[in-house]
Amino acid sequence: MVIRFFLIACSLAAIATAGNFYRDFDITWGDGRAKILEGGQLLTLTLDKTTGSGFQSRNEYLFGKIDMQIKLVPGNSAGTVTAYYLSSQGPTHDEIDFEFLGNLSGDPYTLHTNVFTQGKGNREMQFKLWFDPTKDFHTYSILWNPRHVIFMVDGTPIRDFKNLESRGIAFPKNQPMRIYSSLWNADDWATRGGLVKTDWSKAAFTASYRDFRADACVPSSAASRCASNAAPGNSGWWNQELDLTGQQRMKWVQRNYMVYNYCSDLKRFPQGLPPECSIA
Ligand SMILES: *[C@@H]1O[C@H](CO)[C@@H](O)[C@H](O)[C@H]1NC(C)=O
Repeated sequence: MVIRFFLIACSLAAIATAGNFYRDFDITWGDGRAKILEGGQLLTLTLDKTTGSGFQSRNEYLFGKIDMQIKLVPGNSAGTVTAYYLSSQGPTHDEIDFEFLGNLSGDPYTLHTNVFTQGKGNREMQFKLWFDPTKDFHTYSILWNPRHVIFMVDGTPIRDFKNLESRGIAFPKNQPMRIYSSLWNADDWATRGGLVKTDWSKAAFTASYRDFRADACVPSSAASRCASNAAPGNSGWWNQELDLTGQQRMKWVQRNYMVYNYCSDLKRFPQGLPPECSIA
């Protein structure tokens, strides 16, 4: 196993830099509603009654530690969804999702997470946050190595999707993924299941992004190494998993802030919970 990972690592290219939105991303839709500002240090997405907006990374990544600071739509954001995710292409794609479901002023956002492997998702876990995500920027991270996909908020792990291929559960490890983000209207389902509609008198809605960092592998690049700390035997993200403290912090979040876990939804899976639920 280790040898195979090493070969993968050596055929990939390193990038470990503070991001610049001009260099690292393309605005993909929204007809001027997505803007790169401050010389590439800030990106804003807006949504109005006509349309939302979105961007995607130029690079595709295969493993890495990817951080983005996001400040969500403030005030009455009900009906809006800010999606921030990694995804590969095609019907058997892999995907690692953060989605922020807006809410009425003073009511909490829902952070929705999911993991797709080989085109199959249905692994939703939802959280409230322990801070107001609209007041300041907070760091949302994905640590993705051959053994774990760990979701983190301000460095606190909230979810750990483990590689359980030995038990027959697919794990994302062969398909490079791009980063995507979008702000859009989903008032048919997002807030209280679609009961609360977007208040267009409060438009335009804006979410902001800064401090993108990818210490990650870029398979398409010509350089000969993966990331600086991604070599086997090194203590960087390539081998990282939750230590005892990390596990305790994740338990704290899941005990106090998790509002939905597909692994406890017996009604939804009358035939039995997905296999990873009984192992994890
Ligand atoms: C919005 O706030 C209500 C009331 O606190 C809560 O029930 C709901 O889960 C919140 N989030 C969404 C996305 O509806």
